[in-house]
Amino acid sequence: MSLTLRKLEAADLAAITEIAKRSLILDPVVEDVVAEKTVAAPDRFPELGIVAEKDGSPVGFVQGACGIGASDLHRGYIRLMAVDPHHQRRGVGSKLLEELEHRLRERGVTEVSVMDVPQNYFMPGLDFRYTSGVCFLLRHNYAMVHENHNMLCDITPDRWGDLDAQAQQLTADGLSIERAAPTDWESLSGFLLEHWPAWVQEVGRALSNTPPGVFVAKRGDRVVAFAAYQGNNRALSWFGPMGTTPECRGKGIGALLLRLCLRELARQGWKQAIIPWVGPICFYARFCDAWLDRCFWVYRKKL
Ligand SMILES: CC(C)(COP(=O)(O)OP(=O)(O)OC[C@H]1O[C@@H](n2cnc3c(N)ncnc32)[C@H](O)[C@@H]1OP(=O)(O)O)[C@@H](O)C(=O)NCCC(=O)NCCS
Repeated sequence: MSLTLRKLEAADLAAITEIAKRSLILDPVVEDVVAEKTVAAPDRFPELGIVAEKDGSPVGFVQGACGIGASDLHRGYIRLMAVDPHHQRRGVGSKLLEELEHRLRERGVTEVSVMDVPQNYFMPGLDFRYTSGVCFLLRHNYAMVHENHNMLCDITPDRWGDLDAQAQQLTADGLSIERAAPTDWESLSGFLLEHWPAWVQEVGRALSNTPPGVFVAKRGDRVVAFAAYQGNNRALSWFGPMGTTPECRGKGIGALLLRLCLRELARQGWKQAIIPWVGPICFYARFCDAWLDRCFWVYRKKL
């Protein structure tokens, strides 16, 4: 039977989640996360979601994305891609990729990058152990440009003592440390736009969680530091991002905000937290005993 390509729809979610589970075997694949990367993505690109079908059944899919920040407006992405293991090595992946590249080119994209979509990513690159993925990308003339890493750390609700008392101590210095509220968005988004514009979407999503997944340090109404969790990959034990304004660094604010977020993940029942796409490795090693875990290779190709 011939292979057909069609638009990826919400009704495909269960089927593509099964495909992703079978082929992305190094990852915790759950339907909520697949939805967040495809049909329910806050940065949705419906025409860049493509399903490959044989005999009326999905056998593979790709979801693309485009850069939305000033530094990556020219860039398109493979956000998520998988072919059912029973149908691999038969040209399904190639057909999906060629169609995605064609659609990206039509949008004016001049470079494709693999998985490291700043605003909404599943992995910050391809885990190098996905050997089939590496061979596939090389076959399609992608070149590895750099590595990204995730860290892991063990968490329990009381691992770092009385964090509320520690927050009170910092308050004496004219600061307040608290869980952010939706009303903080104006100050928080302004702070992000000034220092880390690529994180506005992710932190906005974390803030919209119930309860809001952001802790902030403020001077008056002005946010001077923040840490977030589950703004991305909500269904996983996902920390980040975080940032402290340069003049407030070195006072223990970042460490406290980090631990407040990790305590929330522990309270949800998680035993470990994922600290993705780092970043200041030694900071996390020191303040939450995190260790380097997965390594992701970022592949790119000029169109
Ligand atoms: C990567 C993946 C999507 C490729 O899908 P596919 O349908 O098997 O790809 P194709 O059949 O079009 O393969 C095209 C070429 O890629 C290379 N390739 C693909 N899989 C390979 C493998 N396991 N070993 C060696 N080369 C491989 C080959 O050159 C192949 O051509 P050939 O079969 O004529 O030698 C699929 O293997 C997969 O789902 N892997 C796990 C998930 C993953 O890595 N996703 C990220 C992809 S960016």
